[in-house]
Amino acid sequence: MIQLNVNGKPQRADVDPDTPLLWTLRDSLLLTGTKFGCGAGLCGACTVHVDGQPTRSCITPVSSVAGKKITTIEVVDNSRVGKAVQDAWRKLDVVQCGYCQSGQIMSAVGLLKAKKNPTDADIDAAMAGNLCRCGTYVRIRAAIHEAAKALA
Ligand code: FES
Ligand code: FES
Repeated sequence: MIQLNVNGKPQRADVDPDTPLLWTLRDSLLLTGTKFGCGAGLCGACTVHVDGQPTRSCITPVSSVAGKKITTIEVVDNSRVGKAVQDAWRKLDVVQCGYCQSGQIMSAVGLLKAKKNPTDADIDAAMAGNLCRCGTYVRIRAAIHEAAKALA
């Protein structure tokens, strides 16, 4: 049994310690907003925050995050930055198929928490590991600027 802190609540998961955090979130805790893409840390679809840091949950053994603060897309708008990012995403109609977008938003929120007014280069560097097969990159970049403006 692994003790976790997910979205501000204590949770217990009856899983093997090596189980990826992604599958614990999705299958044990039924938090299905976090998506599976590559399973190898290469696409960013599974990004969540661990102690505030964007983290690839598909390659993170659940035992390594016991006692740490895990935040998923389901509650990201509880924070001021998360709400501003989601509002900007809606305003600029960023989403196409949507599959990659929870990971994109988690990475964008991580960036804006670390850097209030990121340049294009900062955005490209922070978001480089989040792939989008629909090619929404231009709108993602614009939405991050929009959220930064709303938070200023
Ligand atoms: S599913 Fe985790 S990085 Fe692709
Ligand atoms: S919106 Fe379709 S993969 Fe990104």
